[in-house]
Amino acid sequence: MKYSIATIPGDGIGPDVVKVAVEVLEAIARRFSFELAFAEAPMGGAAIDRFGEPLPASSLALCKKSDAVLLGAVGGPKWDDLPGSKRPEAGLLAIRSGLGVFANLRPAIMFPQLAGACPLKPHLVEGGLDILVVRELTGGIYFGDRGRSPDGLSAWDTERYSVPEIERLLVVAFDAAMERKKRLCVVDKANILESSRLWRETAMAMAPRWPGIELSFMYVDNAAMQLVKNPRQFDVVATSNMFGDILSDEASMVTGSIGMLASASIGGPHAGLYEPIHGSAPDIAGQDVANPLATILSAALLLRHSLKLEPAAKAIEDAVSAVLDSGLRCADIASKTRGGDTPGEKPVGTVAMGAAVVRAVEEAGK
Ligand code: IPM
Ligand code: MG
Repeated sequence: MKYSIATIPGDGIGPDVVKVAVEVLEAIARRFSFELAFAEAPMGGAAIDRFGEPLPASSLALCKKSDAVLLGAVGGPKWDDLPGSKRPEAGLLAIRSGLGVFANLRPAIMFPQLAGACPLKPHLVEGGLDILVVRELTGGIYFGDRGRSPDGLSAWDTERYSVPEIERLLVVAFDAAMERKKRLCVVDKANILESSRLWRETAMAMAPRWPGIELSFMYVDNAAMQLVKNPRQFDVVATSNMFGDILSDEASMVTGSIGMLASASIGGPHAGLYEPIHGSAPDIAGQDVANPLATILSAALLLRHSLKLEPAAKAIEDAVSAVLDSGLRCADIASKTRGGDTPGEKPVGTVAMGAAVVRAVEEAGK
């Protein structure tokens, strides 16, 4: 089989980590005997510099006709003064919306080897952590009407959701919960927001279709607190675009490092979009410092969800785990960074980490 993958390196550390993840995908393709054809789509600041816009039509067209899209990160101080609609982030929103990928799966999984990187007390995460944040990605306040008054002294952004938008997201969340521990928590601000009350009503109306699921609701402020107080109470968390943005950063840190967490954006009629949940970290770009594991693990999600190559996806995850077993650590997950010094840890950069994952993929296939 031959599959086409569009890559969007983007800005900052994006190109560093995408390059390495592509090498891992190539190694997996060799091992499992399928073919991958990569094509690069400029987006973000890199596209602004070359084409004057954050998402050229040709990039979106390329992504739409590919089997899947692998994205690094976009944005940086160089483009911070541009108006909102011309910023690199506008390209990210445009590609999510253009591909129609309304469901963003953000698994917050703690690798046991990195338990020491978790900032919480050990007993709170004993036995590991495995939370799936299902974030609505193409609606809500990210896409609602916004503007400024003529005098520039007031501004607004609008949170608006329709029942079909909520339903299709919750179908993904209920289905995911069925495959997991069968607990779904819908996070909202229903004590204040009308849109949140609509989320609740919709979820309650849908619940009878998934009999074994324990459905609960939580206000977002409480959820932020519960995530650090007792993270193991969560299985699947479904929430709006903005609450999901915030809670997934928090959930990621609870597992040890934002540099480890992958995401899959799915549900549209075109290709799925796979990206690490971290940003472009311009301060460490091009220095061979960034942890490529979140992007490598996003490539695993790409194989699983878009190409339906489960054994290949699992092989990447196993290779990452083997590399962590061998003690390799990028700076963000090294105990030294947190003032410790765990014996057996070997500090590595982006390229060496990627090469180690490639070797682990190859070794396991022998
Ligand atoms: C994310 C990021 C983006 C978002 C930014 C870069 C626009 O924070 O993917 O979580 O807010 O969705
Ligand atoms: Mg975010």
